Amino acid sequence: MSRLTESPAWRALDAHRRQHAEQHLRDLFAHDGGRFARLSGEAAGLFVDYSKNRVTAETLELLFALARQQGMDGWIARLFAGDAVNHTERRPALHTALRNRSQRPVVVADRDVMPEVRRVLAQMGEFAERVRGGEWTGHTGQPVRDVVNIGIGGSDLGPQMVCAALEPYASESLNAHFVSNVDGAHLGALLKRLDPRTTLFVVASKTFTTEETLANAASARRWLIERLGEERAVARHFVAVSTNEAGVRAFGIDPANMFEFWDWVGGRYSLWSAIGLPIALYVGMERFEELLAGAHAMDEHFRAAPLEENLPVILGLLGVWYVNFLDAQTQAILPYDQSLCRFPAYLQQADMESNGKRVDRDGREVDYATAPVIWGEPGTNGQHAFFQLLHQGTRLVPADFIVAAESHYPLADHHPRLLANCLAQTEALMRGRTAEEAADEPPELRPYKVFPGNQPSTTILLPRLDPFHLGALIALYEHRIYAQAVIWNINPFDQWGVELGKRLARTLLAEIRGDSAPAAHDGSTAGLLGRLAAPRAHGE
Ligand code: F6P
Repeated sequence: MSRLTESPAWRALDAHRRQHAEQHLRDLFAHDGGRFARLSGEAAGLFVDYSKNRVTAETLELLFALARQQGMDGWIARLFAGDAVNHTERRPALHTALRNRSQRPVVVADRDVMPEVRRVLAQMGEFAERVRGGEWTGHTGQPVRDVVNIGIGGSDLGPQMVCAALEPYASESLNAHFVSNVDGAHLGALLKRLDPRTTLFVVASKTFTTEETLANAASARRWLIERLGEERAVARHFVAVSTNEAGVRAFGIDPANMFEFWDWVGGRYSLWSAIGLPIALYVGMERFEELLAGAHAMDEHFRAAPLEENLPVILGLLGVWYVNFLDAQTQAILPYDQSLCRFPAYLQQADMESNGKRVDRDGREVDYATAPVIWGEPGTNGQHAFFQLLHQGTRLVPADFIVAAESHYPLADHHPRLLANCLAQTEALMRGRTAEEAADEPPELRPYKVFPGNQPSTTILLPRLDPFHLGALIALYEHRIYAQAVIWNINPFDQWGVELGKRLARTLLAEIRGDSAPAAHDGSTAGLLGRLAAPRAHGE
């Protein structure tokens, strides 16, 4: 048993679970008219209704006691203060400094980092304005029409998700594209449609060593030089975003065309840094700054609100309740907003790369579950795909419904329909349908027409999906992830688990290319290598 699972707060929750496991949400609502008012809150313009979760006042009290026991307040303070919360890499995680709109200094290694943060923001703003205004031209003197971000993971998912979400604010004369996969089909299919004279590539990589990004950037560079006929064209069509100036220079991009960020920005927390350059290009720097302001408003809430009102903490604790005490394996993210179509994918990295850990901060293997599998799709599409399992399957699946009160596309009555569907689903999941309610169904069909209900959901309501509220929404989830890491006593800011596959891929690449003799592999890998070699050998 670990210190956590043996602790008084954990054991109290375990005992509580055994006593209250059977409580139905329908009854909790029936007996408590004040439930919605008590179990909902507002921060940074977001309204969060968590009343349809399987908790009572007592559950919440016990969860807050767990948060106190794990030193939640202290850990929040340490995050903002720039302490080395990423202990395995001995550095802070200061995404909050990137969007610090206050005059408070943020000190790392005895230096206030805010002047540097502001300098790069100014550089981004100036560049975005020149590109958007047509002042920055390509090698042949034509303005930029297509921006192609080449990056992967945090250097792709965040800016891509935000650009999709803020499409209503986008410049009509500029398209944004995102290439991440090393599969040539990704870049190849896009290049077919692009004009090199009007294309700007943003090579985004924190380390500037990532295989996929460097391979894609090299191919894009070759394509451009071939089409424009001169190597010096690269200077007008390639910029880089990185912490690694030497790497950028070695690739052949002038550091004058580089936007810097710092090792205290985690890849999956980096969209607020220069990694957000495609966002600034696509929607303008003013909008990008509004995004930062929304995140900052949520930061202020997270650092100052008491635990009982602190929405990221509350959502984090609810997740802990489901994962560790009610045995939920997954968490669904269901934006009722087509513009948030990339939000579940973005959160997969943010959450699963952060909290998909099995060793605690003291180096011991944990004996409790950590991050759930994050998945989801926009509503209403999901309703016609996987919702059947939520309604009548055998698994407990906590779900977040995210919806904006107002739409950017007020087409006929589409938005009221969307809202109605969103609310109907959370109500149906919660209430279910009893045998009595199914009494008028044909007897042989009755068992199939009963829904157990009691499926928990949280509804996050935005006034509209604008830059400010989107920033607040993303920061809400970032801090929820951190709050859970505090409870689980794990470091959410490293990702050693992705290294092994990268190392093996390097060995296998040399073997597939025929540069080295096959190493000792397991039977399956050796067999597959053999099959791949055969047709290629044939073709030669
Ligand atoms: O997959 C691991 C990872 O390091 C992610 O954490 C990161 O976001 C991604 O690769 C890309 O890294 P980079 O920005 O250094 O190219």
